[in-house]
Amino acid sequence: MADDLPMLYDRVGEDFFGELVAAFYEGIATDELLAPLYPDFPDFEPAKERLRLFLIQYWGGPTTYMETRGHPRLRMRHMPFRVGEAERDRWLVHMAAAIERTCEGRADGPEVAAELLNYFVPAAEHLRNDDQLGLVQ
Ligand code: HEM
Repeated sequence: MADDLPMLYDRVGEDFFGELVAAFYEGIATDELLAPLYPDFPDFEPAKERLRLFLIQYWGGPTTYMETRGHPRLRMRHMPFRVGEAERDRWLVHMAAAIERTCEGRADGPEVAAELLNYFVPAAEHLRNDDQLGLVQ
């Protein structure tokens, strides 16, 4: 992130994250691999709100996520279900599509999209847990 720019949250505002997450879960809802992993499937509203609050906090907005859910510890929270290459890739396909839709028409769209993807791509890889079989490490 460039040092001279305010935090992403201050540039895009809260509604942006609501729109991003809504577009993302529209994709997830159609995904036969990922959709059934969500605990309230086929209701994505609770998961939508958790992701929305997490992203707002991560990009410098209010810390409501922490106040309601505690420390994110995302790797631990993803342990109950398999995150392999296929899951990572599907997740990123839906997020990239959501970013494209949400950033479309914004003057700062390309910078915002790049900033989001610069976080999501390595973060999704970091959440992989298909090496936890005792074979590696
Ligand atoms: C950059 C990548 C990712 C981020 C930032 C992210 C973020 C989150 C967050 C914030 C939650 C809610 C945690 C909580 O408060 O309980 C969550 C839950 C979840 N994530 Fe991810 N996630 C990512 C990648 C993935 C991938 C690759 C999968 C594929 C399997 C996945 C599947 C799920 C599922 C099934 C839940 C449970 C729904 C829920 O309880 O909210 N996530 N994720």
